[in-house]
Amino acid sequence: MNYGEIVSKVKDINLAPEGDLKMEWAKNYMPVLNSIREEYSADKPFEGITIGMALHLEAKTAILAETLMNGGAKIVITGCNPLSTQDDVAANCVKKGMEVYAWRGETDEEYYENLNKVLDAKPDIVIDDGADLIFLLHTQRQELLDSIMGGCEETTTGIIRLKAMADEGALKFPVVNVNDAYTKHLFDNRYGTGQSAIDGILRTTNLLIAGKNVVVGGYGWCGKGVAMRAAGMGASVIITEVDAIRALEAKMDGFRVMTMNEASKIGDIFITTTGCKNIIGAPHFLVMKDGAVLANAGHFDNEINKEELSSLAKSVKTVRYNIEEYDLGNKKIYLLGEGRLVNLACGDGHPCEVMDMSFANQALSAKFILENNGKLENNVYEIPYEQDLRIASLKLKSMDVEIDELSPEQRKYLADWKEGT
Ligand code: ADE
Repeated sequence: MNYGEIVSKVKDINLAPEGDLKMEWAKNYMPVLNSIREEYSADKPFEGITIGMALHLEAKTAILAETLMNGGAKIVITGCNPLSTQDDVAANCVKKGMEVYAWRGETDEEYYENLNKVLDAKPDIVIDDGADLIFLLHTQRQELLDSIMGGCEETTTGIIRLKAMADEGALKFPVVNVNDAYTKHLFDNRYGTGQSAIDGILRTTNLLIAGKNVVVGGYGWCGKGVAMRAAGMGASVIITEVDAIRALEAKMDGFRVMTMNEASKIGDIFITTTGCKNIIGAPHFLVMKDGAVLANAGHFDNEINKEELSSLAKSVKTVRYNIEEYDLGNKKIYLLGEGRLVNLACGDGHPCEVMDMSFANQALSAKFILENNGKLENNVYEIPYEQDLRIASLKLKSMDVEIDELSPEQRKYLADWKEGT
């Protein structure tokens, strides 16, 4: 569709005013990104640059896109999950001057069509959450590889696959690992997922957490966050893990640790956070209690095996918005948000204050790619520590928190191994 000058495809352009309110609200709680926006608005570092983005298209993401646009970039954006786009926000992005191809409830085919539309704009830089644009460029759109300066990837799942590509020499442009910035994963993965996954479950089910057995699949940063918040609300938390060190950590953090086979018999609410597939499948569904609630907080919708759940079910019906009831004959099991990221499919994603830091990392990483164009290898680059420190310092300042500084004497003491005590 042609909205004035801008060719885009969204659900309903008339939803833009609602999206504008959401963006204004989010912006007020994103001081770090706002300070980068001020700098970019003045300096226009991205003048003449097209940035292709595939991110969960909700209000905070739109603020990132607007920041880059204010820095001079042409923005072409789509979602990175068929259920996470907020249609009012997508409409407002068009009004603001971006090219947008995204709506909630895309079919698989539409989802890939939209990713391809972004690539049709021949981006210089790509920004991904889940690496879909980067994979598409390396598989079906290789003709565009030469013109790409680099990419930025936001999530653990994407980074694992990109590192595998780099190890095999298959990566054809540099990618910045935004996920592993301290100011990303320590806050976004832990406090972000911890709060937003529980929030998505609560808004959707209106059920009580206190007194329930909450089974958390995986004890990485996301699992830690979910476990911490569920415990804080009075759940008895059970962790399942495949990594002995993480399992031990969970045990010493005070949680019950057991196999998914055992946990399946007693769990009331299950939340997967692993980044791996088939965490919960047929053997588990068969022993679950009547009324078990299943939610996934990992990037892909393959952590809960929906195919096996469907084939065990005698019937499936929607019993409440975003809740499917699978009737197995002797019991009913409830799946939230089609097993897609529960915090975005059933909620608004991570809190604004958290995405402030994640997206500050994205904004600075895009500039890093631009400034180092031609100087980087086709590899996965870690965020410079100075960038993390800058973001953490700005965040602390916005929270009115002051910290101590090392004295010259202390600096010398730490640097001089000869001095002794
Ligand atoms: N909002 C935008 N991107 C998000 C993400 N990756 N996780 C949670 N909320 C988000």
